[in-house]
Amino acid sequence: MNDMPAVPAIRRSATLEGLGVGIIMDGNGRWAQARGLPRLEGHRRGMEALRRCVRSAPGLGVRYLTLYSFSVENWTRPLDEVNDLMGLLKLYLRRDLHELNQNGVRVKIIGERTGLPRGIAELLDEAEATTRGNDKLDLVLAFNYGGRQEITRAMRRLAHQVAAGTLAPEAINLEQIDAALDTAGIPDPELIIRTSGEQRLSNFLLWQAAYAEFVFLPVLWPDFDETTFAAALAEFRGRSRRFGGRDEGASPIKAAR
Ligand code: FPP
Repeated sequence: MNDMPAVPAIRRSATLEGLGVGIIMDGNGRWAQARGLPRLEGHRRGMEALRRCVRSAPGLGVRYLTLYSFSVENWTRPLDEVNDLMGLLKLYLRRDLHELNQNGVRVKIIGERTGLPRGIAELLDEAEATTRGNDKLDLVLAFNYGGRQEITRAMRRLAHQVAAGTLAPEAINLEQIDAALDTAGIPDPELIIRTSGEQRLSNFLLWQAAYAEFVFLPVLWPDFDETTFAAALAEFRGRSRRFGGRDEGASPIKAAR
């Protein structure tokens, strides 16, 4: 009998397929405030930065890109700002869906879909359905998303299976939990970037970030561009990653590059 504890499954993306990156796009409000502009203008410019980011990702070796676009906590903002953010998501998907599809981008939305205005929910379904067969870049938009809420949903799914008798409690393992999360099938991010100088995870990809590296950038999100993105990736690639082991030999991640 083997008493060795199970080695945790690390669903690394940076093997042969390319890198997985999550971004907390922060600083739209401060960008606008510094210029005496309304917050909406900061968010609009933030959307342009998002477009630049998505366009440049494949060329920088990124295969999975998860963007924190609207958190469950964002509902506490004034209604007009919430409406602005909803409107910008609609605008982005309506305007760019064709281009995303042409460029081989597969769109996936994570977060709670129920409770969103119907027009938005339909658009999210359409974006996913239209781009389902693409394989150049997985663009994961975290919208109405919270990591704790996602884990709660996953626990509930597993509990239903246990109650139905299709899953034994002892059979619940890391893979079962991965598969019950919104991100099922998407490898964990290797790198999480946050802009604006803040150094927090803010309920983003709590489970999936277990082994992620973090790069905190002083730039406000509307100023994020390909050069900034490349610099963050260069910093990440220079890091030594041990995944709880010892720093012996080349990491499988670096070796793959
Ligand atoms: C943080 O800025 C950003 C957000 C609240 C969400 C990200 C939104 C965008 C990138 C633009 C909209 C695009 C889509 C697709 C919805 P903040 O307002 O918290 O900045 P602050 O901390 O400086 O106030």
